[in-house]
Amino acid sequence: HEMRKVNDNGHLTIGNLDTVYLAEKYGTPLFVYDVERIRKNARLFVDTFKKLKVKAQVAYASKAFSSIAMLQVARQEALSLDVVSEGELYTALQAAFPVEKIHMHGNNKSRKELEMAVQYNIGCIVVDNFYEIELLHDILVHQQKEMEVLLRVTPGIEAHTHDYILTGNEDSKFGFDLANGQAAKAFQKLQGFDRIHVKGLHCHIGSQIFETDGFIMAVRRLFQSLANWKQTYGFEAEVLNLGGGFGIQYTAEDEPLALDQYVKALVEEINSQVNTYEMNFPEIWIEPGRAIVGNAGITLYSVGSQKQIPNVRDYIAVDGGMTDNIRPALYQAKYDAVVANKATQPTTNEASVAGKCCESGDMLIWDISLPEVEAGDILAVFSTGAYGYSMSNHYNRFPKAAVVFVENGVDTLVIKRETYQDMIKNDLSYE
Ligand code: LLP
Repeated sequence: HEMRKVNDNGHLTIGNLDTVYLAEKYGTPLFVYDVERIRKNARLFVDTFKKLKVKAQVAYASKAFSSIAMLQVARQEALSLDVVSEGELYTALQAAFPVEKIHMHGNNKSRKELEMAVQYNIGCIVVDNFYEIELLHDILVHQQKEMEVLLRVTPGIEAHTHDYILTGNEDSKFGFDLANGQAAKAFQKLQGFDRIHVKGLHCHIGSQIFETDGFIMAVRRLFQSLANWKQTYGFEAEVLNLGGGFGIQYTAEDEPLALDQYVKALVEEINSQVNTYEMNFPEIWIEPGRAIVGNAGITLYSVGSQKQIPNVRDYIAVDGGMTDNIRPALYQAKYDAVVANKATQPTTNEASVAGKCCESGDMLIWDISLPEVEAGDILAVFSTGAYGYSMSNHYNRFPKAAVVFVENGVDTLVIKRETYQDMIKNDLSYE
């Protein structure tokens, strides 16, 4: 794995720090992020747009991993921010994220969420459905404000990893369909609301995408509609937001493109469409989550029990599981791992890594080659930086893990490990 770096003790390192030392200092399970890697990922997107002289916003999709420290790093890197809930917006405000660079998503934004977004003057709301248009208008009238919006459209392209499918009518809970005219209707409706300003269109075609053709198809479809709207309403989009979804490496099987390749392909296709339809080049927004934090994070676990089933499988159990990483159970997601304190030893054993939840499906990795392991060894799972901590849960009343940032050879605790008191703090007695 690209993050596999080993020191003279034969221990895995992250950001030049010994992971075994980190596990001892903070306990396990532990999320550790290499902040330099986060910055590098962010800069590759931002700098590529700059090099191409294209006005752009790179919005970090905070659902991938939202915490005050993370949003401070995003702010330092001049990223914009995508939030999808009051909780994510609240976190952004607590991190002093510039409100004008915050965009809000959601297929069922509540009145309270929209009120908060309007009250704090966030930069843009991505309008998803007809109900929301009415709700937003009502709130704007009440608060005597105006709001810039993008229309979320479903272009009928669904991309996952290396395939994409074209469907006339995408069956999705998100956005207005381009194919059956919903998007045009929404656009028309918005013309009647003078407090709402349509800046452009948004689409998101999927996640963990390895090729550019899905994005290119999406751009073509957006421009077909934009061409109609230009003719009918004289409307030209100031902004095109193409969502996130840029793939990363989890295991050796994954061969994602370098992040700048996606940017170049998008810019090239938009350029060609703009020329075809004689339009102005729009500002381009993207919303990467996974590609910013995914490969920057690892999870450290302590090995406990083992079970050998002759001729079937060896199980190695660790002190976390689907509570800190639900992705294998939920999506059959695959991960790579090493024994951090035996990182140079030959991998002679085939085993599967189990969590400790009371559920058979609580497996982290099936059939991986590892050295001989014993209780107390530290297992490091790679590429857990996105949708790990953020999707973690309290099943079996496991407290949430701690998160440490590493940069310039310094480790900093950025989310404390939960205590049992934390876990019962909202429980009330019934006697
Ligand atoms: N923008 C929109 C509108 C999205 O729906 C998403 C992800 C993103 C941006 C960021 O996508 P990314 O760049 O991270 O792929 N929990 C799943 C992923 C669900 C993503 C949902 N939307 C996982 O663990 O793989």
